[in-house]
Amino acid sequence: MTVRAVLERAVQAVERWQLLDAPGYQVEHALSLTFLLAGRQARRLQDVLHGVWLGHPLHPALVTVPIGAWSAALVLDGLDATGRGGPGAGHAARTVVQLGVGGAVASAATGLTDWQYAHDEGRRVGLVHGALNSTALGLYTWSLTDRARGRAARARASAAAGYALTLTSAYLGGVLAYRYRLGTDHADRSNEPRRFVPVIEESELTEGTPVAVSADGVPVVLVATDGGVRAVGGSCPHQGGPLGEGWLHRQELVCPWHGSRFDLETGEPAQGPATAPLPCYDTRIRDGAVEVRRRARWRSPTAITTVEEASR
Ligand code: FES
Repeated sequence: MTVRAVLERAVQAVERWQLLDAPGYQVEHALSLTFLLAGRQARRLQDVLHGVWLGHPLHPALVTVPIGAWSAALVLDGLDATGRGGPGAGHAARTVVQLGVGGAVASAATGLTDWQYAHDEGRRVGLVHGALNSTALGLYTWSLTDRARGRAARARASAAAGYALTLTSAYLGGVLAYRYRLGTDHADRSNEPRRFVPVIEESELTEGTPVAVSADGVPVVLVATDGGVRAVGGSCPHQGGPLGEGWLHRQELVCPWHGSRFDLETGEPAQGPATAPLPCYDTRIRDGAVEVRRRARWRSPTAITTVEEASR
């Protein structure tokens, strides 16, 4: 049996493991309660943990800290155990293990915040991913205690076990990102339509009400505002929520699935869990029809073209 087949079997076993559902919901409810008790600051805290300020999820960036630090610790422990690392190897190993523990705590907070929106099989895989990481964190913490007490051999052994769990968990992290697309951008990033195409009659729009349309097959949401017709992508970058079924809140478009809010002018998320911006479209009115064209990311919004301007 190939390595790939073994890994696939293991992943499928986790995906089918329905016993994980009950603890999964308990963890989610505990998390929701924690954010509820945090009050008005909870939303901001969640946005920080999601990575709204960064422009993409914070979790995958943070996990590099424990993995990198603990990889270095493994090498330093090896040098220390064989006596080839000199007098500073043990001390250096302890320092990078501490760095990794700090990074692991931060990445656990970000991962847990992202995981609460996972469903079904992805939720189960995420739960096992988190449990493995937590066990690894416990082993490294134990290793630190042993290092402080001078039990070097046992400290190295628990760190090595923690490293094996970390790598196993990292594989599941890859499954979550690349198979379940947790944390990846679900917006339609097509460059189409490059030219203005008619999508709806202007008379069919009601001010302040999002309307889903298709622009040459690309999902777009139109919102008539007192400043003209705004057009943004119709699929939420977070998990593809149908933004045409959303609503406006303080002139921002709200996703109906998990409440991300987007600036209609720039497409930028004003509130997570979405971290990526929506694609934006230029609009114009011609012969009573609203036309849209994909706007390049680096271009600022054009003014709405009126019927008179369009006919020049
Ligand atoms: S799909 Fe989750 S906020 Fe839109």
